[in-house]
Amino acid sequence: MRIMGFSASPRKKGNTAWTVERILEGAEENGAKTKIWYSGDLEIKPCKGCNACQKKDHGCSIKDDMQKLYKEIKKSDAIVLGSPVYMGQMSAQAKLFTDRLYALYAAASSKSAKDKTAKKKLVLVFTQGDPDESLYREYFEHTKKGFQILDFDVQSVHFVADTDKEPAKDRKGLKAEMNEIGAALALKTKTDEE
Ligand SMILES: Cc1cc2nc3c(=O)[nH]c(=O)nc-3n(C[C@H](O)[C@H](O)[C@H](O)COP(=O)(O)O)c2cc1C
Repeated sequence: MRIMGFSASPRKKGNTAWTVERILEGAEENGAKTKIWYSGDLEIKPCKGCNACQKKDHGCSIKDDMQKLYKEIKKSDAIVLGSPVYMGQMSAQAKLFTDRLYALYAAASSKSAKDKTAKKKLVLVFTQGDPDESLYREYFEHTKKGFQILDFDVQSVHFVADTDKEPAKDRKGLKAEMNEIGAALALKTKTDEE
């Protein structure tokens, strides 16, 4: 069982990276092999809408670091996508990643390609500076629906609020909470494999 993480914050030691790392840690403790990718280490260009990926089953025409992530996604059973809230939404880095997932969803005529990527499990986690825990609820729900439409099996959506006041890593009990999310993801993945 393989689970990949993607931290879509430019800050490699920030709240989002820490949160994704703790989720993966919980998954590892429950038998998963994990790998985390940091957007700050990668060059991911925006989708250019050429639709080459939809015409034939040979993937995205942009040869950048997203090619490494396509390979990782294909061999992973589940993805943990973490993003800071930037101006009320996912970060630009998270959006670039999300848009480029389009290439995994080849045209309906190429059903085999779609089947390969369909129903990956997904956990979404956001971090936000604002202390108001209900502020982005609708946005998080909307984002969850977007991934469901993309055929992801969205397991859960989480957020850590008020990070500007107290960083995630200093939050009492948060490590255990994040580890638990990873553990639940690993156990569910294992059960579904059996
Ligand atoms: C450009 C920018 C925009 C932000 N916009 C918001 C926002 O709209 N709402 C919010 O609650 N926090 C906002 N924040 C705060 C971040 O969401 C918060 O600090 C987050 O935990 C940062 O994650 P990181 O440490 O992984 O980079 C913003 C921060 C930046 C740098």
